[in-house]
Amino acid sequence: MKKHILVIPGDGIGPEVTTWGKAVLEKIGADCGHDFTFDEALMGHAGIEATGNPLPDKTLEKAKASDAILFGAIGHIKYDNDPSAKVRPEQGLLKIRKELGLYANLRPIMLFDELLDASSLKPEILKGTDILFFRELTGDVYFGEKKRSEDRNTASDLMIYHRYEVERIATKAFEAARVRGKRLCSVDKANVLEASRLWREVVQELAKQYPDVETEHMFIDNAAMQLVKNPKKFDVVLTANLFGDILTDEASQIAGSMGMLASASIGDGTGFFEPIHGSAHDIAGQDKANPLASILSVALMLEISFGLKEEAKRITNAIDKTLKEGYRTGDIADANTDKSKILGTKAMGQKVLEYL
Ligand code: NAD
Ligand code: IPM
Ligand code: MN
Repeated sequence: MKKHILVIPGDGIGPEVTTWGKAVLEKIGADCGHDFTFDEALMGHAGIEATGNPLPDKTLEKAKASDAILFGAIGHIKYDNDPSAKVRPEQGLLKIRKELGLYANLRPIMLFDELLDASSLKPEILKGTDILFFRELTGDVYFGEKKRSEDRNTASDLMIYHRYEVERIATKAFEAARVRGKRLCSVDKANVLEASRLWREVVQELAKQYPDVETEHMFIDNAAMQLVKNPKKFDVVLTANLFGDILTDEASQIAGSMGMLASASIGDGTGFFEPIHGSAHDIAGQDKANPLASILSVALMLEISFGLKEEAKRITNAIDKTLKEGYRTGDIADANTDKSKILGTKAMGQKVLEYL
């Protein structure tokens, strides 16, 4: 198979972890006889530094011409602490999602049994959890009109959804539920928000076409609680952009760490594969970041964009073996971890390659 992959490392730990996602793709390509070619492009703070633009034109051009994109993370502490900055790294990520029509962000909560003790939750509560989040990615308060009054004392972000936006993501979620555990939980705030009432109306309507799927509606506040009380009750979770952003960071603790959660952003064209974590200023440049979320993002790319299920399985098997052998990065180590097996980003990436 011949595929051209664009790598966008981004900022902070982005380049550190993406190196290993790419290395895994190269090894799979060589071992399995696939012709994977690569290019690289700038985004976020790196884009601003080089061109003044968080999504340089060249990056978008290359993205549109590729078969899949492997993204790291963007963000810089300078902007986090400067609310007045007009040009921001995050704008690059939002713009590329919109431009590529990446309206569905799939965030699987895949739990490796070896990491049951790495979570802050009790192992017996976690064991057997398998959730697939469908987070809407190109609508909501993220993309609604933003306003600031002239005296700068009032600000607003419009929470807006159109029927077609809810329909297309909900259809994807129902289709997935149908071939998984046949349960779908749609999360909203329909008791308060009009945008959520439209959301619920559309999901209720669509549910009639999926009588084989048990559909439930839950308010976001309750869902945030149920997720840690009894995560096993969830199969497919469908939710809006902002709610999905927050719920999945919470859910990362089920899998043990932010460094374990991969995602696939899909929609109209080229797929975009990204860990859910950010540029993690607190550990950037220290060889501490967990590269497994990036490597798992590559597994999602192989399966979803290229239909290479066997190859994707090789990756999850290699990670499983790495963890079974006791190797951990700091974020997934616990009191029982053999200290000599706590690895940095590079050594962890190398271990996975070795077991691939
Ligand atoms: P973050 O996800 O970067 O970090 C949150 C916490 O998780 C930190 O303690 C960090 O050390 C830890 N963590 C994250 N990834 C890890 C990994 N691979 N291995 C080990 N530990 C990991 O979130 P934040 O601190 O709120 O944001 C930092 C910057 O990243 C901000 O500028 C933010 O806008 C940006 N951000 C970008 C993305 C993205 O590019 N997709 C996502 C979230 C945040
Ligand atoms: C994510 C991030 C982004 C989001 C930010 C950086 C724009 O938190 O990918 O989850 O909110 O979608
Ligand atoms: Mn997020």
